[in-house]
Amino acid sequence: MNAASKLTPAAIGKKFPMIAARYALHGDRPIGAPSGFGAVWKARDLWLERDVALKFSDRDMADELCLCRDIEGQTVRVFDYFRAADDWNAYAMELLEAPWMGVGRFIRAHRYRPDDLQHYFDCFEIARSLLSGLAQIHGRPYSRKQKFVHADIKPDNLFLMVKPKKRPDTVFRMPPAQRLVKIIDMGIGTAQGNPVLAYTPGYDSGERVARPGVDLYATAITFLELLTGERPDHHTMRHKARIRRFVDEMPSGAARIDALAVEFASNCASAYTRPGETVRVHARHLDEQVFGIGEQRLLALRAIHRHCPGGGRKDELADLLFGVLARPCGWRNRTTQRIDTLKEVVADLYGAGLLVLRGQRYFTA
Ligand SMILES: Nc1ncnc2c1ncn2[C@@H]1O[C@H](COP(=O)(O)OP(=O)(O)O)[C@@H](O)[C@H]1O
Ligand SMILES: [Mg+2]
Repeated sequence: MNAASKLTPAAIGKKFPMIAARYALHGDRPIGAPSGFGAVWKARDLWLERDVALKFSDRDMADELCLCRDIEGQTVRVFDYFRAADDWNAYAMELLEAPWMGVGRFIRAHRYRPDDLQHYFDCFEIARSLLSGLAQIHGRPYSRKQKFVHADIKPDNLFLMVKPKKRPDTVFRMPPAQRLVKIIDMGIGTAQGNPVLAYTPGYDSGERVARPGVDLYATAITFLELLTGERPDHHTMRHKARIRRFVDEMPSGAARIDALAVEFASNCASAYTRPGETVRVHARHLDEQVFGIGEQRLLALRAIHRHCPGGGRKDELADLLFGVLARPCGWRNRTTQRIDTLKEVVADLYGAGLLVLRGQRYFTA
């Protein structure tokens, strides 16, 4: 337990009279996950009549706060910075409450079960959003300014907007990537090229130079943890075959989708060994390999996975797909021609490696 999390409201009031004058702490303990250096409280800003989060630490947090301010986009908004007489520090920031949820909490609350293909699609969306947030921290490839490494990517430092929508025309149901994930806790973030002081051990690539690859390694672990509910160890992360066995314990039920998850995790995990590599490569990879599969194919895959776990002949699957694709296609009546089109969809899924064929029957895995 760090010094900040031992502070009582009375002790905080004594240390920070200016905070006591303006904010009313909520409850008798900090909110959120047990953490490294600070303690975060929910509080009421009595002047503005808004709830905020207040973070306290015995360390200087000026850099952390400036980093949050400089990064545009997927991080928390910060408001005021306070310094106590004895070098304690605090800052007020936007409070992340429902529909926001810490990814660590999300993982603990999620009911993991094998063959949850929709969960895989959700995780790909979350990964894509995390990459776009990281791109903002890492900065533009050829710019000299504002290139940082977060150096503490892990579920407890990520928040998710949990607001899924049912959409008839796509399997992707999360808010758009720019709004889905927020990256918090810039406490040990540093400029690229500096030494990495302390990565949380379970997410630490071992690379000591701050480069995008160290955050990508932690992203790979976080992604697999989100996918399966278990954090893979470093031994697993060193080889694609081990990652594959790890994912096999909690598969999606669609072999091709498992393979894409394994490939993404394994590419990100090895990125720290390639000094010039940026998150953009991996974002593009997801855009092409996962999101580029196309809505219609993924809807068809999900329907076959959901309704025909035992597989089916081409005509059986075409019949099933009518129920799913008629609406996005704007069809009312079932005609032979349309069923023929849907047979072609099945053939196309097979051609794209999304279905496997055994005898006359097509399966998702
Ligand atoms: N703005 C916020 N709104 C709600 N909860 C927060 C906020 N910032 C942090 N938390 C919670 O407090 C925990 C600790 O905050 P963090 O900034 O990560 O501190 P530390 O540097 O001690 O790890 C987080 O994991 C999260 O659960
Ligand atoms: Mg933290």
